[in-house]
Amino acid sequence: MSNRPEEARGKLGILTPGLGAVATTFIAGVFAVNKGLSKPIGSLTQMGNIRLGKRTDDRNPLIKDFVSLANLEDLVFGGWDVYEDNVYQAAVHAGVLDRFLLEAIKPELEAIKPMKAVFDKKFVKNLDGKFFKTGATKMDLAKQVMDDIENFKEANNCTRIVLVWCGSTEIYFEASEVHETIEAFEEGLRNNDPNIAPSMIYAYAALKLGVPFANGAPNLTVDIPALVELSKETNTPIAGKDFKTGQTLMKTILAPGLSARALGVKGWFSTNILGNRDGLVLDDPDNFKTKEVSKLGVLEDIFKPESNPELYGDIYHKVRINYYPPHGDNKESWDNIDIFGWLGYQMQIKVNFLCRDSILAAPIVLDLALFMDLAKRANMSGIQEWLSFYLKSPQTAPGLRPEHDIFKQLIKLQNTLRHLMGEDLITHLGLDYYQDLVEVL
Ligand SMILES: NC(=O)c1ccc[n+]([C@@H]2O[C@H](COP(=O)([O-])OP(=O)(O)OC[C@H]3O[C@@H](n4cnc5c(N)ncnc54)[C@H](O)[C@@H]3O)[C@@H](O)[C@H]2O)c1
Repeated sequence: MSNRPEEARGKLGILTPGLGAVATTFIAGVFAVNKGLSKPIGSLTQMGNIRLGKRTDDRNPLIKDFVSLANLEDLVFGGWDVYEDNVYQAAVHAGVLDRFLLEAIKPELEAIKPMKAVFDKKFVKNLDGKFFKTGATKMDLAKQVMDDIENFKEANNCTRIVLVWCGSTEIYFEASEVHETIEAFEEGLRNNDPNIAPSMIYAYAALKLGVPFANGAPNLTVDIPALVELSKETNTPIAGKDFKTGQTLMKTILAPGLSARALGVKGWFSTNILGNRDGLVLDDPDNFKTKEVSKLGVLEDIFKPESNPELYGDIYHKVRINYYPPHGDNKESWDNIDIFGWLGYQMQIKVNFLCRDSILAAPIVLDLALFMDLAKRANMSGIQEWLSFYLKSPQTAPGLRPEHDIFKQLIKLQNTLRHLMGEDLITHLGLDYYQDLVEVL
């Protein structure tokens, strides 16, 4: 059930497990915007418009003027990491933003120091940070995270808190019995079940407190029945998985266009090189597997080969990620797409995207945090599928196929906002304009 959202009053605390490239680029960006040094480009909440009513009404406000979202001046930031660097040091290490910009906001960034992480090297083998909590059981660790959240809220005088996972990608594993119900999960926390990952411990802690949780990495985290159930029980929104940036963003822009024009696709080969810490983590095959699964589903769901075997039945889809330190955060991706058209004639599309991963991800963290807070104020609990727009592997209700087409995702997001604010939904049918015209004539 959703209601018209309550107004966003007071400060919103955004806490990120993981204060690496994405999180620090996001935090530094908000400070830079608040100081008038830059603009929040790529953020729909800050720079996107929404059409309301009929096309002839000429109502096209900014989204932030249409729905009540936290102001950027009202945001406060914190987080956890296995490295003790403050946000300034971590941002310098990530090497995404230029030093000139970072110097201008250095005091604000230095003031944000990580809290000790919940960490288990088994889940992220290529990291050797030492700044983590200890506790006899995973339940103890969850309680420590709950204390962290509550202490942060009080110390920073926040009215609301949101968590967005910006930690490293955990190794691939599938949901099992311990993830089935809240009872099994809590028992597992008390028994140190090896199948409970650190990200799940943060998520459990947040949900117990009614704090929204969005997952920016492809790990399962809140995508398990136990935590979906808990989110409903505590009236808390959840969303995941994996920020939609880079190559997958391009795929979900291009593939719907090919499918819309009934063009066939024989193959789609995607390769990437990147040299940041994320690339280092993904260099381990078990961590890469989690990412691979998240990236591979996209084309299947857009082309639906079983519904259209002649055009998409034989599609060969391959994704590669290679760790290449000299490129740092400036990922380079290549796509070779073998398509065919009228009478089966073949064509090729080549895409070479020189992207900046964290520059594309930072506005997603902002928008997810602001929209998750909106959802909470609108009494929306459980999976927020309307936020699929931001995610590579959108979490859905069991049995539902995720929607990957970015244009459908945008319509869904905008219609959700219209619905929340009591505006007419827009179907883009538009026949009535012509009907009115005929009547006038
Ligand atoms: N950059 C993008 O475009 C993009 C897109 C989609 C998803 N992601 C995902 O977002 C996440 C962050 O990406 P990044 O580029 O900032 O990576 P990063 O390696 O720079 O930052 C991740 C940080 O998380 C920390 N960390 C690892 N395990 C932790 C734990 N259990 N608790 C707290 N901190 C922990 C690491 O020490 C590191 O500082 C990754 O999982 C990545 O796959 C990034």
